[in-house]
Amino acid sequence: MVNIAVLGYGVVGSGVVELIKTNYEKISSSAAQEVKVKYILDVRSFPDSPYAELFVDSFEVIENDPQVQIVVETIGGTGAAYEYTKRSILAGKSVVTSNKELVAVHGQEILELARQKNLNYLFEASVGGGIPILRPISQCLSANEIYEIYGILNGTTNYILSQMLLNGSSFEKALENAKAKGYAEADPTADIKGIDTCRKICILADLAFGSHINPDRVPTYGIENITEEDMAYAKVMGAKIKLVGRALRREEDSVVAYVAPHILPESNLLSNVEDVFNCIVVRGNAIGDAMFYGKGAGKLPTASAVVADVIDAAKHFNARKYIYWEKGSEDYLSDPLLMESRWFIRAEMGEEEAEKIFGSIQVIGEKPGAIAFTVGPVSEKVLIEKLNGRRLISCYRILD
Ligand code: HSE
Repeated sequence: MVNIAVLGYGVVGSGVVELIKTNYEKISSSAAQEVKVKYILDVRSFPDSPYAELFVDSFEVIENDPQVQIVVETIGGTGAAYEYTKRSILAGKSVVTSNKELVAVHGQEILELARQKNLNYLFEASVGGGIPILRPISQCLSANEIYEIYGILNGTTNYILSQMLLNGSSFEKALENAKAKGYAEADPTADIKGIDTCRKICILADLAFGSHINPDRVPTYGIENITEEDMAYAKVMGAKIKLVGRALRREEDSVVAYVAPHILPESNLLSNVEDVFNCIVVRGNAIGDAMFYGKGAGKLPTASAVVADVIDAAKHFNARKYIYWEKGSEDYLSDPLLMESRWFIRAEMGEEEAEKIFGSIQVIGEKPGAIAFTVGPVSEKVLIEKLNGRRLISCYRILD
């Protein structure tokens, strides 16, 4: 029998406990032994819960119980979660988590600690919710030189954009629904401003390219400035606006990573990814493009990935899974400014002036005093030079 302790009884933690109960026989059979939740740690009390007798309010109980072999950390953040993760590993327990912030910021250090103790630190649920993506990158695609990863990595923002575009919801109403469905972070600012997507693209790039990327250094834009007018122009182009995280390996052994809303033409399959679904494209020199699609947030999809890691950890007590990346150097991350793409631009000017500034453009629409057009391929650096201090109403990369 394997005993586990669940730290944090929020959306994901309660989903893990529920899933282990619902699929008890299947999970125990996959793990080749009984999987039992021995403790649940939470600062809140749940006297009416069917699991009330499992709750403890002191981490020491779990830390000092040698029968607990796997700790599931679903507290989130980098405070108590960081401390308890390290203490669990030092106490000889493998740790499984959905905590993307902790993995993106301290993953390299925790993996090193787990390596020293011959234990596992597994975090499949930290990217893409229920979508299998980290194992495919580190195992199934390991014969490839991966040169690009991009995707829709945040269920909340994709849900909001879909609800606004397809159902005419307001931003506020759509966000309220995303919270009620358990998609949004405790502080949804991390979703809206692209920070959650940033953490996830960093984890993907860490794994695929082998060195740590500091999320604080990744240029990150969210969905807060997307207007209904931008969405309407995208529709005229037969396209949609989606929040995309992207990382590319450069020839000179550096990596470009950034997060921003993009215009996705219909030819890009990601344009049809709606609601809470995520989709990740991995480009490798042998496989070409591989796509991974599924529910990117929510209680049971995320619990599905966490519990699969629990099963894996239970089957590998004395055989570490090879998941690891290096520390990375200061100059490892380069600026996306030099990356060329086509662009969608809205600016307060007429067609003649736009052509004078940008050269050849394709006009999408014009209103008194403002024009919407596409231009490029051209780098952001060249665009900024051409603008020479002039301000734009809006500007998006086009991801063909
Ligand atoms: N807030 C996250 C999202 C949860 O909406 O994608 C899953 O990581």
